[in-house]
Amino acid sequence: MKKILFVLVLVVYFNLTTKSQVLNLMPWPSEIKMAQGQFNINKNLRIIVDGQPDKRFQLNLIRFIQQLSKRTTIPLDRDTIITNAEASIIIKVNRSGVVKLGENESYSLKIGKDKILLISETELGAMHGLQTLLQLLDRNNSSFFFPCLEINDKPRFAWRGLMIDACRHFIPLEVIKHNINAMAAVKMNVFHWHLSEDQGFRVESKVFPKLHLMGSNGEYYTQEEIKEVIRYANERGIRVMPEFDIPGHASAWMVGHPELASAGGTYKIEKFFGVFDPTIDPTKKETYKFFEKFFKEMAQLFPDEYMHIGGDENNGMQWDKNPKIQEFMKNNGIKSNHELQAYFNGNLLKILEKNGKRLIGWDEIFQSSLPKTIVIHSWRGRESMEEAARKGYRSVLSNGYYIDLFHNCSEHYLNDPLPAESKLTTEEKNRILGGEATMWAELVTGESVDSRIWPRTAAIAERFWSLASVNDVDDMYRRLDAINLLLEESGIEHIKNREMMMRRLCNGSNIEPLRALIDAVEPLEGYNRHGSKRYTTEYPLSRVADVALSDAPDFVRFRLSHNDYLKTKNRENYSKMMNLLDKWSSNQQAFYALASENVALKEALPLSDNLAELASITRKLMGQFNAGIKNSSAETDALRIQVEKLNKPVAEMELPLFKVTLDLIGKLRNGEKEE
Ligand code: ACM
Repeated sequence: MKKILFVLVLVVYFNLTTKSQVLNLMPWPSEIKMAQGQFNINKNLRIIVDGQPDKRFQLNLIRFIQQLSKRTTIPLDRDTIITNAEASIIIKVNRSGVVKLGENESYSLKIGKDKILLISETELGAMHGLQTLLQLLDRNNSSFFFPCLEINDKPRFAWRGLMIDACRHFIPLEVIKHNINAMAAVKMNVFHWHLSEDQGFRVESKVFPKLHLMGSNGEYYTQEEIKEVIRYANERGIRVMPEFDIPGHASAWMVGHPELASAGGTYKIEKFFGVFDPTIDPTKKETYKFFEKFFKEMAQLFPDEYMHIGGDENNGMQWDKNPKIQEFMKNNGIKSNHELQAYFNGNLLKILEKNGKRLIGWDEIFQSSLPKTIVIHSWRGRESMEEAARKGYRSVLSNGYYIDLFHNCSEHYLNDPLPAESKLTTEEKNRILGGEATMWAELVTGESVDSRIWPRTAAIAERFWSLASVNDVDDMYRRLDAINLLLEESGIEHIKNREMMMRRLCNGSNIEPLRALIDAVEPLEGYNRHGSKRYTTEYPLSRVADVALSDAPDFVRFRLSHNDYLKTKNRENYSKMMNLLDKWSSNQQAFYALASENVALKEALPLSDNLAELASITRKLMGQFNAGIKNSSAETDALRIQVEKLNKPVAEMELPLFKVTLDLIGKLRNGEKEE
């Protein structure tokens, strides 16, 4: 009897733990307790809301019901929300929330077999709870259900942002909006809108219309559109923080307003990428008269407490060459361009404060002459963020979250704003507000930007929301695969636009050979794609490399199987790996048939050849590995040379399989045996 009981306990325990392992939640909640059973969903589902939520909650609840209805195929109409006690989902919200830094966003969720209880201080927490419920939705052969469990959840960081650069390439309004919707799905709360750059000024200014009329190619957001985005984001609990990048990165301002520049002459909208000379003149009184009016207008347009003034990468060339600026510096005891920029920032700060705003800027703005009310946005390194924290300044981290760099998601995921080894004191740690993923737009357009932001940003969202101890990379990738599909429901076009781009490249032919190749390759990392020197704002980003993802989906699957296989020797994973290797080898012929007569695809032919060869070498090595066959050092060296040749970038893409193959060669050389 004892034995049976023991087995029973084990079975229950196993069910609970395995169940908890397959929940596709992202970000992972701070506390989760699994329970037995499930809450089945049927058309009689009734929801009651108790308390004092802001009216935005009603709209979020309706969207939740619509999404649930679509996903379950069960008609859930407006009668689902009721006002009597018969409800099976009870939502209690204590008070109306305010979409501002530091607002309470916590919630607790208890799912029992007959009742669900969602409790929060503000509706912002309850909205996060609804997103959690949507992620928990599961099904079996007889019903749709939520698993019984208990969650207590709150964010680790108050600032969980996504920046979109709408200047290098204009990002259409609808794209901005569906990205905001996707942010809400993963509990992010700051949309940082990068609105002025050398390549474009993207906001309608009624006070200085030459800014957008001459400083853009006609693609800018009208004030009505901006108000709509702010309303849309606010409804989803998301702040909208604008950035006007000055004094550098400022060519577009000067096209209509050359008087702002630190050098005479005329200016044009920049079409190349990099750091350019045009810089605002910080020494002229007229400059501040201009900004008084400009920021007054923008402060009224953007209600968020924070105004981002950029401040990055001012190369100081125009300042160095302007005798009047040099004289001003001498007369005022300003010893460096950095000090001059601090003087400029100090004046801007006064203007912003007059308009009820707090100043935030990239880490170049950091100067201890500025008051502790400013926020430092660190992009160059976490050191500057920590230094700011030590000196009493609050900061936000973006270094390590540059999603324009085509890095694997895991790198961003493991980049913690406050790693365990941080030497900061508790007080200093409290000054780290959070972080932002940054989508710089040199190599994206409206049609590709979603596939660069998502799904990686969901993993970054988890880094900002969840406990630091939630850091299992393979588990993150497993959950991300599921979240990737859920994200599509928020309206983002990361999957469908990529399909469209592939169809366009294939010009009516079957796209599967392209997909088989492209799902195994990655774009060159870092800024290496710019090495080709071909890119400008006008270059069509519609090449094969533009549909390659930073985490090649088939390779991610291969790596997960490989990692698990190394741990568990699971034969199923071995077969999955073999199938993928076979797919890559056999695709060579099909891709040749597709691409050899298609000028748009031809550039990828050598990549397909390399992948096929690398896959067949890897297959052979895996077999050897299993059989415990070692290679001599001469064989190992020859293999390395052969494989290194296959690692050359082709058409700005590379093969992530290469590292696995190289590792395997090393393992065989060392004589490690698997079985
Ligand atoms: C930056 O990436 N220049 C902020």
